[in-house]
Amino acid sequence: MDIFVIQGGERLSGTARVSGAKNAVLPLMAASLLADGPVEIVGAPRLRDIDTLGKVLCHMGAEVERTGADGDGRETVRIDPRKIGKPEAPYDLVKTMRASVLVLGPLAARFGRARISLPGGCAIGARPIDQHLKGLELMGARTTLAEGYVEVDAARLRGATIYFDMKTVTGTENLMMAAALARGTTVMKNAAREPEVCDLAKALRAMGADIEGDGTDEIVVRGVASLRGIRHEVIADRIEASTLLLAGAITGGDVTVAGADPGAMDAVLTKLQESGARVDASPGSVRVRREGPIRSINVETSPYPGFPTDVQAQFMAYQCLGDGFGIVRETIFENRFMHVAELRRMGAKIDVSGSAAAVKGVPSLSGAPLMATDLRASASLVLAGLAAKGTTEVLRIYHLDRGYEALEDKLSALGARIARVRE
Ligand code: EPU
Repeated sequence: MDIFVIQGGERLSGTARVSGAKNAVLPLMAASLLADGPVEIVGAPRLRDIDTLGKVLCHMGAEVERTGADGDGRETVRIDPRKIGKPEAPYDLVKTMRASVLVLGPLAARFGRARISLPGGCAIGARPIDQHLKGLELMGARTTLAEGYVEVDAARLRGATIYFDMKTVTGTENLMMAAALARGTTVMKNAAREPEVCDLAKALRAMGADIEGDGTDEIVVRGVASLRGIRHEVIADRIEASTLLLAGAITGGDVTVAGADPGAMDAVLTKLQESGARVDASPGSVRVRREGPIRSINVETSPYPGFPTDVQAQFMAYQCLGDGFGIVRETIFENRFMHVAELRRMGAKIDVSGSAAAVKGVPSLSGAPLMATDLRASASLVLAGLAAKGTTEVLRIYHLDRGYEALEDKLSALGARIARVRE
């Protein structure tokens, strides 16, 4: 198993290029199931989650291939759905990645049936899919649960009005894809507004879908009879970009992320500014530098355009070195403070009570062997290690490899002393 060994204390500076967004590529891959021809996703990063969904699609009979890098180093994933014969996603694959649930809506819409292993809870929370299933039922599907699998049957889905009880990103994406090929109009209320939802809507429109309202909390989809294959450039990964900028800020450095979309990162950039960092944003590039102390501030996660839960752990690592006292509140997932125990082992002063973590800044952290527990928690430990005194070892970085492409290379190029070591 690979580990990261980090010698802390280097000030990071320079420019890193952001990768394509994992959480935009995954729904685009699922959307290929709706198409009559091949779908090409340009800018798909090399990540384990993307490979896993590729395997799910192959299992169904799709052809999935990765083509070489273009001039900017961006690779393309090409999915040809024309030979799909088995609309099923087995437990072995789904258990390793919940986002496999994204195939449910497209399969129900395109093939009239789907059978996928019900995803279990995961490290960060229970994460039920009741909203996905409720929406499909409102669209006329029958859903049953048998032997750990969800089975969906639908002659042809029909449009419906769906009110989401909470903002759900993949729930909104799943039902938007289902509605694209349903008969009639679907209105989704209290829909998620994340940039990844908008990117999917944009791709579906290029495929021939009739969708409006994405980016607001009411999305209207008028079903069409068929959708064609496309070539689509995926948006930049705002979570990776935020993580790299925080790596600059936590080390008192000066980091520019090229290719980032500052408009999609407003909450994080505003909070960085509030904490004393200087932020310069222009279209396609964000620069963050910090010279003075880290100001301790309060942060609360919420659905987009609020502060993303996927940056909470990384921001907390940064706040551990703040000049006072701040509260980090997590409102999306019930168990997303697993980095806290590890940060404490480095000397951080954090008290957790329910969904709130009280962070009292300390002058320095000390390197330690640490255990990564989930994707974003792993990133927070890497950030802490970059700023800590001495050596930090981050174990189980397979979590990190699910969602960060060559993170150690990008950080090394910025001056970090970080190495991947095979144990
Ligand atoms: N929820 C339900 N019922 C549902 C759906 C969601 O109760 O049917 C709850 C969840 O348990 C959670 C909240 O609603 O408490 C929001 O969950 P959401 O459905 O929005 O999460 P998701 O779609 O499963 C995506 C990202 C996550 C990201 C969340 C929140 C993808 C593939 N995953 O998950 O990304 O944290 O939205 O923004 O898009 C990550 O990349 O590290 C990651 C976990």
